[in-house]
Amino acid sequence: MPAIVVLGAQWGDEGKGKATDLLGDQVDYVVKYNGGNNAGHTIVVAGEKYALHLLPSGVLSPGVTPIIGNGVVVDLGVLFQEIDAINARGVDTSRLLVSANAHVITAYHTTIDKVGERFLGDAKIGTTGRGIGPAYADKMSRIGVRAQDLFDEKILRQKVEGALEQKNQLLVKAYNRKAMSVDAVVEELLGYADRLRPMVADTSLLLAEALDAGKVVLLEGGQATMLDVDHGTYPFVTSSNPTAGGACTGSGIPPTRISRVAAIVKAYTTRVGEGPFPTELLDADGERLRAQGAEFGTTTGRPRRCGWYDAVIARYAARINGVTDFVLTKLDVLTGFEKIPVCVGYRVGEKTYDEMPMTQTEFHHALPVYEELPGWDEDISAARSLEDLPKNARSYIEAIEAMTSVPMSIIGVGPGRDESIVVRSLV
Ligand code: GDP
Ligand code: IMO
Ligand code: MG
Repeated sequence: MPAIVVLGAQWGDEGKGKATDLLGDQVDYVVKYNGGNNAGHTIVVAGEKYALHLLPSGVLSPGVTPIIGNGVVVDLGVLFQEIDAINARGVDTSRLLVSANAHVITAYHTTIDKVGERFLGDAKIGTTGRGIGPAYADKMSRIGVRAQDLFDEKILRQKVEGALEQKNQLLVKAYNRKAMSVDAVVEELLGYADRLRPMVADTSLLLAEALDAGKVVLLEGGQATMLDVDHGTYPFVTSSNPTAGGACTGSGIPPTRISRVAAIVKAYTTRVGEGPFPTELLDADGERLRAQGAEFGTTTGRPRRCGWYDAVIARYAARINGVTDFVLTKLDVLTGFEKIPVCVGYRVGEKTYDEMPMTQTEFHHALPVYEELPGWDEDISAARSLEDLPKNARSYIEAIEAMTSVPMSIIGVGPGRDESIVVRSLV
């Protein structure tokens, strides 16, 4: 049986959590394959709102085994807080598993993330301050701490000592901060070991066996294509691979076992943090999208930057990820706009582009070329089939579908699990 990837096509917050949750009763495993608690997914089930950060979105579906894959960086304090908070609301997390190879975010990673951003000044990335970049940097530098290290105190101490030898130089000499104590870091991590032990597994082996047994595995990406460290708007990106390739490396499932790649795409565009954003609106339309779409970060509460739909980015995401299906979200937010511009290309100086320009310098200067589509006034939140939509809403879907040549298989018309039009099932 197949593995299905669900990932973001734009700069995050497309509604990946809702899309994953929607598929919850059709899948057996939901594996988070990248990122950490920089992610924030708001999911609404039967009027109840849940904000998830580290827990895979499948956690809300009874019968799903949620897995934190090897590609994730885990802040254990945050993980246990999130588990406790969701347990207190009656959600069972007893099946949750964590890859033995997942890296751990320690106190020095969060400190260096925050202090490092302050030192960058105007050149800052606008990170979530959760220690993501520094934890992935240590993984690549081969000085990271993995979940399995918590069960061998000697190894753990050696690793923390080795890492802090470097970090303390940086903290004290470059950043003018206090050195951090090896004992305090080790003690904090060991404090999580007993609770973590029963959750830790060889998740790659387990998933291979599950696929052999005919189970359905959903691979859930955090962040999104344009925040990918290789394919996004570097350096204004996160430090992992949210794109489809990351689903394989971050879970241990090979590409030959993946049958569908669903990209979640908002009917307009948003971005949090710094970096280029050609269709960004700094006017009343941008304010209106933010207000109608409730575009404030689930993780940091920051107002999201808003702009029109960018078909160049959607095409780019389709190509980089091998997208088989788009899930179009928040179509309802566009209700009431008389005309809806869609970006079909860029102008950079004298040149025009209908693909992402090769260099960041060009992308920074890209001006959108718009095609205007007619809007609609009718409330569409009760639509459950394409026929229930006003003509112009259907034309909007058809127009942006034609721009990528990938089917819009699910259309979101509200935040609730049932507020969706399923044109073509993903499983
Ligand atoms: P994620 O990080 O990709 O999971 O997305 P977020 O949860 O950060 O942001 C998406 C927001 O849009 C959440 O508050 C969702 O409840 C909401 N949402 C998702 N789909 C729809 C939709 O079709 N319509 C509306 N109005 N809201 C939606
Ligand atoms: P979800 O999964 C939107 C952005 C941050 C910053 C950049 C780097 O909810 O879509 P990091 O803390 O990762 O080093 O920050 O990436 N960012 C997100 N933006 N949604 C997210 O996750 C994000 N995760 C990180 O704002 O610009
Ligand atoms: Mg989010």
